[in-house]
Amino acid sequence: MTVNLIVLAAGQGSRMNSDTPKVLHEIAGAPLLHHALTAGAALNPSRIVVVTGTGGDAVAASAADWHEGTATVRQDEQNGTGHAVLCAAPALEGATGDALVLYGDTPLIRPETLAAMQAARLTCDIVVLGFDAADPGRYGRLVTTGDRLDAIVEWKDADEATRTISLCNSGVVMADTATLFSLLGDVSCDNAAGEYYLTDIVAIARARGLTASVVRCPESETLGINTRTELARAEHAFQTRARADALTNGVTLTAPDTVHFAHDTHIGRDAIVEPNVVFGPGVTVESGARIRAFSHLEGCHVSRGATVGPYARLRPGAELSEDVHIGNFVEIKNARLAQGAKVNHLTYIGDADIGPRSNIGAGTITCNYDGVSKHRTTIGADVFVGSGTMLVAPVTLGDRSMTASGTVVTTDVAPDAMAIGRARQVDKPGLATRLMDRLRAAKQKDH
Ligand code: UD1
Ligand code: CA
Repeated sequence: MTVNLIVLAAGQGSRMNSDTPKVLHEIAGAPLLHHALTAGAALNPSRIVVVTGTGGDAVAASAADWHEGTATVRQDEQNGTGHAVLCAAPALEGATGDALVLYGDTPLIRPETLAAMQAARLTCDIVVLGFDAADPGRYGRLVTTGDRLDAIVEWKDADEATRTISLCNSGVVMADTATLFSLLGDVSCDNAAGEYYLTDIVAIARARGLTASVVRCPESETLGINTRTELARAEHAFQTRARADALTNGVTLTAPDTVHFAHDTHIGRDAIVEPNVVFGPGVTVESGARIRAFSHLEGCHVSRGATVGPYARLRPGAELSEDVHIGNFVEIKNARLAQGAKVNHLTYIGDADIGPRSNIGAGTITCNYDGVSKHRTTIGADVFVGSGTMLVAPVTLGDRSMTASGTVVTTDVAPDAMAIGRARQVDKPGLATRLMDRLRAAKQKDH
């Protein structure tokens, strides 16, 4: 069954106390909106519509950034969730199959939960995602008879008896697209909030002889974000889940609570991640790699058998082949390191290619930026770069070449050659003691 995704993201989020629209606040390095879209994308939707409001242009740009085929429509006045869904109707003109409504500020919905809703749709016209609330508060209540859903009653409109129901509405709804819009056509704003409630479609559907049912999920999946505190709580919930998933997938985390994942971190089986490692977006770590303590990685790839850190920084475009060693206080950016290359201490490698088995000495720097443009450093196979070498790019070191410690390399080095680019050492006998005596005497006189 095809599915069209409608994501409601018109909320202004005034309780965030922010200039940024609520759904663009991030957890695990991605906007809340992207989390909702990604969950919905697991059902392989044919069309996706995001309903925007305040800060609509920024939200639309972010939606397009997630996937260029994502349509956005604007809801200028927030007249309720039913009205918001109706705003998506023109963008879904002629769409067939189901519609799934998600909230852009609810990032923790699991794809498995949405798949369960899709399965439930096979035997019923409207499927609503519900949860047993620890504290039902002001959530809409699900009025059921056995497995059947009779109505959703908003807290504001509920009598005392209905308010005692603990089964609550998450807001996530799935129904045939045409049916959904047809039902919404009958919704009125004659209620306590004076809004068009999406939730009213259940009672209307039942009156038309259609069926409705509830799929339940853990309350944690439906956590909606309205404040910075809830944002922090969602981040924590995401991290807890990501750590548990990594452990289940065969990754060793020696101190799970100190490892921070991004929304898209991929770590292979039998990789080892030591304490206090932070993964920014876009990281893949293959099986058997080891990420040592206090390392920070983003936009990079670490192959099988490689080790990184402790205290290493891999920035976007760092590509580590098998058995590469990156040591402490090393920064790698936009650089490919071939199999077995070693960069072990206090080094910056940016915009570079390093050949197999080459060894980069301590304190080496690729001088990749001239103040205007970036330039590439190319290092061949089995090269030995002496400690403290400055590689002034663009520059190439041929296979098996060497640089002497402290060399400033400004021109290409031929294969098998040794580059020595530093002043020749001169020793002055006795000068050290004479100089110290003079300095001490001068200081004595001052006092
Ligand atoms: C809604 C549900 C309630 C449910 C709760 C779960 C309705 C009428 N009520 O209540 O049953 O328990 O969510 O969190 O649906 N939005 C728009 N445009 C609007 C109004 C809302 O885009 O005009 C978006 C909001 O940005 C938000 C979502 O829809 O992402 C829910 O809106 P909100 O006002 O928070 O609904 P609740 O009153 O919490
Ligand atoms: Ca809400």
